[in-house]
Amino acid sequence: MFEAKTIESDDKATVYRELAQQLDALLSDERDPIANAANTAALIFTSLPDLNWAGFYFLRSPDELVLGPFQGKPACVRIAVGRGVCGAAVQRRSSMLVKDVHEFPDHIVCDAASRSELVVPLMRDGRVLGVIDLDAPLPARFDHDDQQGIEALAAIYVKASD
Ligand code: SME
Repeated sequence: MFEAKTIESDDKATVYRELAQQLDALLSDERDPIANAANTAALIFTSLPDLNWAGFYFLRSPDELVLGPFQGKPACVRIAVGRGVCGAAVQRRSSMLVKDVHEFPDHIVCDAASRSELVVPLMRDGRVLGVIDLDAPLPARFDHDDQQGIEALAAIYVKASD
């Protein structure tokens, strides 16, 4: 049985390196994209401090994201490409680091507790498959190190899943 180890470090690079090794191990025997997304969301949510939501949205048609596995409160099911922080990440094909969601005019509120947000696109062969979305109840919870760390986890998820 996989057991997530507590990561004893304040250094984000170390935390994300260990998290990447854990995710690699967690997904190594499975290729189902939903099962792997569920375990990825659970590993992120239980390993990183100060999150109120962590999960996936998948691009089910060229212009719409649909909710996937997540941890946190129930969330909006469908997000049009170009709308909200998630839709913007798909349209721009790049990560979105929003230090204060109140300053992002098109932010879609799923949990009123959310104050900052990090959205990372899932990319395969130049195509966007969906996004990983993290929400935090603190302003400026995420920085460039978090972005790089979650981008690495997104790449592990894409490589490990069909
Ligand atoms: N805030 C997101 C919507 C998804 S929830 O945060 C889970 C957005 O603006 O796209």
